Amino acid sequence: MKDGKFLTMAFESSCDETAVAVVADGRQVLSNIISSQIDIFKHYGGVVPEIAARHHLENINEVMEKALEQADVTLKDIDLIGVTCGPGLVGALLIGIATAKAVAYATDIPIIGVNHIMGHISADFIQHPDLEPPFAALIVSGGHTNIAAMESYTKCRVMGSTRDDAAGEAYDKVARVLGLGYPGGPKIDKLAKEGDPDAIHFKRIMLEKDSYDFSFSGLKTAVLNYVNTQQQSGKEVNKADVAAGFQQAVVDVIVEKAVSATKSLGYDKLALAGGVAANSALRAALEAACKKNGIRLYVPSPLLCTDNAAMIGCAAYYRYMNERENGDSSDAGLEGLAMDAYAGLPL
Ligand code: KG4
Ligand code: ZN
Repeated sequence: MKDGKFLTMAFESSCDETAVAVVADGRQVLSNIISSQIDIFKHYGGVVPEIAARHHLENINEVMEKALEQADVTLKDIDLIGVTCGPGLVGALLIGIATAKAVAYATDIPIIGVNHIMGHISADFIQHPDLEPPFAALIVSGGHTNIAAMESYTKCRVMGSTRDDAAGEAYDKVARVLGLGYPGGPKIDKLAKEGDPDAIHFKRIMLEKDSYDFSFSGLKTAVLNYVNTQQQSGKEVNKADVAAGFQQAVVDVIVEKAVSATKSLGYDKLALAGGVAANSALRAALEAACKKNGIRLYVPSPLLCTDNAAMIGCAAYYRYMNERENGDSSDAGLEGLAMDAYAGLPL
């Protein structure tokens, strides 16, 4: 506790960001330090799990020290440790978990595991102090694509998920086809602004009627086929038009499903989260569709969209408080020093 506030220190290491944050009373960010490995993985065209884990190990202590320093606190002030325990790369997750456990063991501070996707949704709690459940959540990241009903601060009911590639994964793969580099999402976002979204039509994969599931791998293959066919017949590929056409196909599907899921729940709030939530076309299209349908849209700042530990601290706080108040320990395996890493942890 400091100045009467409950302090959570949180760790995030599920992919290629080593991050530690200190959060007061669940929603106030005192520090949010992120050490990204993007520059390393640019050379590989994607994340290499073993290398990611090694870099987490090299960086995590320094990142933690910076987080404490910037928050102007010491471990004595910390009331709770939160850590991402899945889903993600197991070797990468384990570094955050081992560090968090070591600190918890040495200091006797309680420790609690957090589902990374719950963390992404919680970024909206940080960004929007007035946001309260229930609301619909749309999580679009490099590893996940979900539509969910956020029924309380800790209860999330999944309505739909991707059946193959995540939205960000499709962006990254299409960017590779176009030779744009890694991570592809921001590059396609930028290039698409110079292209015509109607010049090349890619099919919108809606799946069964009323399904909130997604499928992006067919779209990625369609882009690949288009590029190959053009090249084989000696025609030039207009990369900006391909980027714009692909992006429009992704955005149209996501927007339609997210809005109709929100309406079917009878909610008037939709929270966007995950790395792809930084996409300018998606933000603009969702804003317009939500306005038309009387839905209030909540979007985190770009820094809170991609992986960070402040969002994990927020989710950890609400889980811990819920267990303290309601004795709800349905996810008991995610607590304490016996905690493990779970590559495929469901929401
Ligand atoms: O949430 P995140 O940092 O990591 C996961 O939990 O997966 O998301 C990273 C993903 C990458 O696939 C990246 O290409 C995508 O988010 N991304 C974007 C944009 N910025 C990041 N995709 C589209 N447009 C963007 N502006
Ligand atoms: Zn993430």
